[in-house]
Amino acid sequence: MIDLQELLSPFTETYERKLEGIAKNLVLNHNLNVHSWEHTQRVVHYIKAIVPNLVRQNSEPDSEDIRYLKRNAVAAGFFHDVGREIDSCDKGIHAILSEKIFLEKAAPLLEDYDIASIAYAIRYHSDKYSPDGKKPVMQNYYPPAEIDIRVAEALCDADRLDLIRLELYPVILPEFLNTDCAKSFANSPAHKGIYKEIFFSNEYMERFEKEEVEKREALNFSPE
Ligand SMILES: [Fe+2]
Ligand SMILES: [Fe+2]
Repeated sequence: MIDLQELLSPFTETYERKLEGIAKNLVLNHNLNVHSWEHTQRVVHYIKAIVPNLVRQNSEPDSEDIRYLKRNAVAAGFFHDVGREIDSCDKGIHAILSEKIFLEKAAPLLEDYDIASIAYAIRYHSDKYSPDGKKPVMQNYYPPAEIDIRVAEALCDADRLDLIRLELYPVILPEFLNTDCAKSFANSPAHKGIYKEIFFSNEYMERFEKEEVEKREALNFSPE
C-alpha cells in the first residue's frame, strides 16, 4: 500500500534537508520545466511511500533495515536527475552524468550511506531496456552481490509514477513497475488526484498551462 500521509509530509528529517541542500546545489540546469526541482521532490515523496513495502522476510516495516533503506533510496531520489541538461530524451546520458556527479561531489560528504547501491540506482533509472533487451525492471538486472536492488526498485517506480505529469503518459504501464504497491497505486484516483490537489501549486499549474499553450502555438496546433 502507498501511504498517502507520506506523500503529504514535508521533508522534516535532518538527513532529508541535508541531502536536498547538497543535491539542489549540484543541479546542472535549474531552468528545466518537466524535470524541475518539483519533479525531484515528488520522486522523493513517492520513494518514502514505497520503501515500507520493501521489507525483507522476517523484517518489520519499522526495522533498522527499512530506515537505512529509506535514507539510501531518498538519496537516490534527490540525486537521480542532477545531471539532466535538457528536458527532452537524452538517451540516458543524464543518468550516467548524475551518477558521476553524485560519486564525485556528493558521496564524499555523506557518511553512513550505501553509496554503491545509490549509484547503481541512479545509473540505471532511465533505461529503456534492461542489459539483455527486456523491460527495464530490476528482476531483469544482475547487480553485484553488494548492491541492495531495492534502492533501484524504489527510485525507478517513484520516477515512473511521476510520468503522469506529462501529456505523453496519461497512463503508467504496470509492467514497467517493480513493486506491487506502485502497480496498484499507478493510475488510481488517489494517484491522479495528487496532481490536482497536493503537489502542484497554482503558480506551477499556471506556468505549466502557459507553456503548453506556447508550445502548441509554436507548432501551429489548433484544438478541435
Ligand atoms: Fe531521470
Ligand atoms: Fe526523474
